[in-house]
Amino acid sequence: MKTRITEMFGIEHPIIQGGMHYVGFAEMAAAVSNAGGLGIITGLTQGTPEKLANEIARCKDMTDKPFGVNLTFLPTVNAPDYPGLVKAIIDGGVKAVETAGNNPAQVLPYFKDAGVKVIHKCTSVRHSLKAQSIGCDAVSVDGFECGGHPGEDDIPNMILLPRAADELDIPFVASGGMADARSLVASLAMGAEGMNMGTRFIATQEAPVHENVKKAIVAASELDTRLVMRPLRNTERVMTNDAVERLLEKERKLGDDLKFENIIEEVAGVYPRIMTEGDMDAGAWSCGMVAGLINDIPTCKELIDGIMAEAEVLIRQRLAGFLDA
Ligand SMILES: Cc1cc2nc3c(=O)[nH]c(=O)nc-3n(C[C@H](O)[C@H](O)[C@H](O)COP(=O)(O)O)c2cc1C
Repeated sequence: MKTRITEMFGIEHPIIQGGMHYVGFAEMAAAVSNAGGLGIITGLTQGTPEKLANEIARCKDMTDKPFGVNLTFLPTVNAPDYPGLVKAIIDGGVKAVETAGNNPAQVLPYFKDAGVKVIHKCTSVRHSLKAQSIGCDAVSVDGFECGGHPGEDDIPNMILLPRAADELDIPFVASGGMADARSLVASLAMGAEGMNMGTRFIATQEAPVHENVKKAIVAASELDTRLVMRPLRNTERVMTNDAVERLLEKERKLGDDLKFENIIEEVAGVYPRIMTEGDMDAGAWSCGMVAGLINDIPTCKELIDGIMAEAEVLIRQRLAGFLDA
């Protein structure tokens, strides 16, 4: 399948693995890229330019295919060394960057000069248009279904994708709730030129996370995610667990008085305990509603090959069949 996204990133299939904290290590990115998609290393999980440079080098040892790095701009107490991280990406020869969280205008000129393609993740048409206007090459349109930060507008992809298609000139991928060939074909029908998956890629053989995380995703239904931190306007969709229910109880009790300090125990620094140690009740971890569509733990190649083969059947037989009949 050839789209403006496959052409832009030099990949075989229009499937991207979104940056994921404590999941997007070199092993994850290389597995997706080796399977013909675009794997992405999560820059902030590495934290320092030196560690990111090392992770990029490790990924290059594992794949000859293109891969990217995610740079997330989120409200943090101690801001990471963004200029250093940008330099590590460029010096490492990476040609694709996924930005997210905030306007990437400050880093764009460096990437443009180095010939790095930037895909910005947005949760609204307004932010997608902004990304286009400042010179981003593509956008990843992240609907309300998504795992992680869906923004505050709550527009699901059935509306958001066609709205983005109506307004944008640059290509975009559909993100949030994407799991299989049906997701891909529907996204293409709505104007996207590929799809981005987060949660689905965690439940794969190669995802470098504890088995408990993969099992939790397979066991979960579409009813098992919650929105936390809405009162702080930093909404995050997470898998429910004891810590999340405790956090939500605090939000109900404190109402408008809620401060980040009140929930620090449930959200700060919990990712290594969950993703690495498999302590599933340690705190709030991002997970999409799409968990309800995930019932197996394939290799990345099995997953992507399966999606592409089934997408062809859907398009050539099911869809074309309606017309031929
Ligand atoms: C565990 C987890 C961690 C994530 N961490 C990040 C992150 O650090 N930066 C980012 O831009 N997006 C992050 N995301 C969002 C994903 O890149 C992607 O946009 C999202 O998962 C898409 O929705 P889906 O889970 O329904 O596929 C994370 C998602 C998950 C599930």
